Amino acid sequence: MSTKPAVASAPPAQQTLSVPRHIGVIMDGNGRWAKLRGLRRTEGHKAGVEAVRRIVELASAYGVSCLTLFSFSSENWRRPPEEVSFIFGLLRRFVASDLDRLARNNVKIRIIGDRETLDKELRRIIEEVEATTAANTGLNLVIAFNYGAQAEIAAATRVIAQKVAQGALAADDINETTIAEHLGTHGLPDPDLIVRTSGEMRLSNFLLWQSAYAELVFVEENWPDFDESVFVRVLQTFTERDRRFGGIGT
Ligand code: FPP
Repeated sequence: MSTKPAVASAPPAQQTLSVPRHIGVIMDGNGRWAKLRGLRRTEGHKAGVEAVRRIVELASAYGVSCLTLFSFSSENWRRPPEEVSFIFGLLRRFVASDLDRLARNNVKIRIIGDRETLDKELRRIIEEVEATTAANTGLNLVIAFNYGAQAEIAAATRVIAQKVAQGALAADDINETTIAEHLGTHGLPDPDLIVRTSGEMRLSNFLLWQSAYAELVFVEENWPDFDESVFVRVLQTFTERDRRFGGIGT
């Protein structure tokens, strides 16, 4: 866990921008994007995968160290079963079509969220993705899938309680770092920036612990319309923010 300011390591053309070390993205508005075009919601999700490809390229190019994408929340099970299975299929196809390229581009992938309730085949794919890219040192791409922050914190608490019960950890020694080390994002910097598309302004159970000091930026564009111009505008907004981390600034 870290609350240090972001590292400015943008390519020359973007030198006036502060580049966050870790960006979290709530990819919202696929359904509305499709509806506006008279298409089925599933077409919006397909177009959303194209935007995923774009932001991964952009994050790498701009020197972001970690990108976390909210792909499927624990609450998304409330959607019609056909839509749920379509989104699951998209993740499978994304891995099948993009894994080799991502691995060659030095991207390290981690999937966070509850794996227990996923089918065996999907769990195998997740393990394969993580193993294939484990030694990579470029962009950390974190895919939050079947993820809910409250469930993540509850799971961490259970493990910590077990350690205390076994005598491996003293209750008095539990602090913020202990919690952070038991979350899916352990070892990664906290997000400096959380972006949500489609004009909605809430966190929807995404990285609640980790985003304690994140800057929140909301853009009107639906997720499938996310491109370099939106990305740069978001970085400009981030650059203009005065991050004090509870202090009084300089
Ligand atoms: C939000 O739009 C989008 C989702 C719940 C699914 C996001 C999934 C993808 C972009 C594809 C899979 C991801 C990867 C990493 C390959 P919405 O359906 O809530 O839109 P609405 O609010 O307009 O209905």
